[in-house]
Amino acid sequence: MAARGLLLASFLLFSCFAETYGMISFSSLQRTLVVTASHRQGLLKGGEDKITVIWGLNQSFPAGTDSAYTTIGVKLCYAPISQVDRAWRKTDDRVSKDKTCQFKIVSRPYSNTNQTFEWTIERDVPTATYFVRAYAFNAEDLEVAYGQNTDAKKTTNLFEIQAITGRHMSLDIASVCFSALSVVALMGFVFAEKRKGRKAQQ
Ligand SMILES: *[C@@H]1O[C@H](CO)[C@@H](O)[C@H](O)[C@H]1NC(C)=O
Ligand SMILES: *[C@@H]1O[C@H](CO)[C@@H](O)[C@H](O)[C@H]1NC(C)=O
Repeated sequence: MAARGLLLASFLLFSCFAETYGMISFSSLQRTLVVTASHRQGLLKGGEDKITVIWGLNQSFPAGTDSAYTTIGVKLCYAPISQVDRAWRKTDDRVSKDKTCQFKIVSRPYSNTNQTFEWTIERDVPTATYFVRAYAFNAEDLEVAYGQNTDAKKTTNLFEIQAITGRHMSLDIASVCFSALSVVALMGFVFAEKRKGRKAQQ
């Protein structure tokens, strides 16, 4: 009985630990990184246009703030307007479950000087409105801080990307539909002609 109780207790303890371990909440992260993203004005094209990202520590934080930072991961994230009615892009405060930032831009060892990276937008990035966020990871690869090129409500400095492949795909779909339609129309026409011919024979 006692052994069973002990087993149960350790199991519960273990599951609690597993839960909390994987549960880093975004709202608990400090915004210590300054991130800027520069690009050409207007609609950006996947596979062609570039985004230059600069990130670094906000110097108004006290020295040592960044002592646990080992890696910086920069990501492309969906703006709220492109998340509406799309559960697969949903923001979740639990960082491990969050689907806001799905595209990796770059990952670099942390340095306390400003870093720059020029990213050519990848072709598989869907047409949507985006912002850029950088996460600081500690040695255990857990998020400990962040920064983004937009405000907390994600309304400023957003940019739009138009996917080239997406455009081609919709054109392809349209042409397949048109071909299917014309086959149906042709069959209908042939059928009607045959019927007319049969009627004329009678
Ligand atoms: C740096 O951090 C301070 C304090 O949190 C904040 O007021 C300031 O806006 C930040 N600077 C930038 C450029 O984000
Ligand atoms: C890093 O970039 C920020 C924002 O762009 C700027 O205010 C700051 O002076 C830069 N720091 C250094 C050390 O260049």
